[in-house]
Amino acid sequence: ATVLATAAFAQGYPEKPITVVVPFAAGGPTDKVARDLGVALGAALKQTIIIDNVGGAGGTLGATKVAKAAPDGYTLLLHHIGMATSPGLYRKLPYNTLNDFEYLGLINEVPMTLIGRPTLPASNYAELRKWIDANKGKINLANAGLGAASHLCGMLFQQQVGVDMTTVPYKGTAPAMNDLLGGQVDIMCDQTTNTTGQIEGGKVKAFAVTTLKPLTTPSLAKLPTLDSQGLKGFNVSIWHGLYAPKGTPAAALEKINAALKVALKDAEFHKREEALGAVVVNDARVSPAEHKKFVAAEIDKWGTAIKAAGVYAD
Ligand code: MLT
Repeated sequence: ATVLATAAFAQGYPEKPITVVVPFAAGGPTDKVARDLGVALGAALKQTIIIDNVGGAGGTLGATKVAKAAPDGYTLLLHHIGMATSPGLYRKLPYNTLNDFEYLGLINEVPMTLIGRPTLPASNYAELRKWIDANKGKINLANAGLGAASHLCGMLFQQQVGVDMTTVPYKGTAPAMNDLLGGQVDIMCDQTTNTTGQIEGGKVKAFAVTTLKPLTTPSLAKLPTLDSQGLKGFNVSIWHGLYAPKGTPAAALEKINAALKVALKDAEFHKREEALGAVVVNDARVSPAEHKKFVAAEIDKWGTAIKAAGVYAD
């Protein structure tokens, strides 16, 4: 009977829309990846992809919702490096990153930029550095909560410049960007998928990129790397991956991962990603096993850095 039921399930799956939980507010870099990929993924699965934005606590609220969701193949999680930083930041995380999820493929890697409010009196990294030293104790650094990519980058930035800043958390870097544009906060480290448009529009001050190599996107190519500006070895880029609750039927996982591999080759998805400085993954990490191995290594890597920083969320 089980064999028949399994075969019947595999035959019919997916027979209704699939919800992809994005653990940050709509309009931000994670949401952008989800909506762009969702078009191609939905086409490959011949089903509707519904995006459910569940922001808060640096992405851990959304991740918890999926860890506890019915493992029926109709709830997925699209998350990022926060999957690997949260175990080090949250000592009472309500899920186990490696055991409570089924791993589907890794999706992309996105560099970050260090940007400032338009009224900030600095137009390049050297001037920003002077402004930081002259405003110690008065600087507001925006992020999307502990565990967010913007938090990780902001934490490492503060450490390396040796100046503590007031952290202003949001439910995602979309709302954070609104306050930066309004001048309510001073600086933020955010993914190019969210900052490229603002930089191209001259709406924010752009100071540097967080990768070791300069970027090739024309509007970002002129930004220096933090590594070249004295923050030796500074290297942060944000990956995004797809996950399902532990126990999701193998037939569903196989269909989703096959569709994901098709979606990751979609020309329109590539075009959108590349225009915003992101790189679509096309290596072994699109396979569940390699993706999981990669995240396990990232948990160790960032766990060590976070312990050294002595930053905990709970
Ligand atoms: C977002 O989608 O809002 C960002 O990925 C948040 C972050 O991780 O900084």
